[in-house]
Amino acid sequence: MTTDLYCVMGHPVSHSRSPWIHARFAELTGQHLHYEKREIPLTHFDASVQAFIREGGLGCNITVPFKFEAAKIATHTSERGLLAQASNILTFRDGQILGDNTDGIGLVIDIERNAGLPLRGLRLLLIGAGGAAAGVLGPMLQAGPAHISVANRTLHKATELVARHLPLATQQKTELVAHTLHGLGDPFDVVINATATSLSGAAVPVAARVLKPGALAYDMMYGPGAQGFMDWARAHGAVPRDGLGMLVEQAAEAFLIWRGVRPPSAQVLAELHKVIQG
Ligand code: ATR
Repeated sequence: MTTDLYCVMGHPVSHSRSPWIHARFAELTGQHLHYEKREIPLTHFDASVQAFIREGGLGCNITVPFKFEAAKIATHTSERGLLAQASNILTFRDGQILGDNTDGIGLVIDIERNAGLPLRGLRLLLIGAGGAAAGVLGPMLQAGPAHISVANRTLHKATELVARHLPLATQQKTELVAHTLHGLGDPFDVVINATATSLSGAAVPVAARVLKPGALAYDMMYGPGAQGFMDWARAHGAVPRDGLGMLVEQAAEAFLIWRGVRPPSAQVLAELHKVIQG
């Protein structure tokens, strides 16, 4: 019997928890598959995907810095993938490359189900307008909040991201505005850091007055990188949360697409917390 083959492609990828997460999903749902890490040379993404397909690979998760290239080589792309202009998952089926993006739904599920905070009717702040922010704005709108401000150091990037999502915002009756990082107006129920500040160790790029008392302050990073943002949030009366749950939930959505089964993601998230804390 051949084993179904999947992988995560990135550069670097040695730190990736995806093989552990997918192996655990497979174990808990009785699925037989092999999932590995592949560190891809920066200029060889397309060729590496084609080689993986020739080996019989059925799908891969895509991480930094290949999500944009992944969206470009897909022969078919989901609606949320088109809005994100980036793919974190490719599925290989009948000679086609199907692109999708499960980052945003992973974030929303982590906030709504794992953190227990339904987003409908709330006031949200998304900080950043790069690839990470683009990956989540569509599903955030789908959750039906009353308002989303997208704030970015470089205003025109926020303006472009907002413009692309305006039809969905109108459909959802969500007020959606682009902003600089300053003078953000009334405080927010949920503040999501999708900038590279945690990665680079830079300071939190907005003033603490953006936080309503008890607001959820979410950093899409996890591990030591997210600590500065989490400490800032706690010090200003907010409830901090890092992106580990988003990581597990985006993987669960990928697993569902590939295997047709939703794995017990909350259980796996609890286990992963323990593994990381040692
Ligand atoms: P990613 O794919 O991780 O989102 P990216 O597309 O390079 O990476 O986007 C990085 C984001 O972090 C951008 O929103 C960037 O702001 P600019 O568009 O103005 O560059 C933001 N960012 C990075 N460093 C920052 C800093 N020190 N302060 C504020 N924002 C920062």
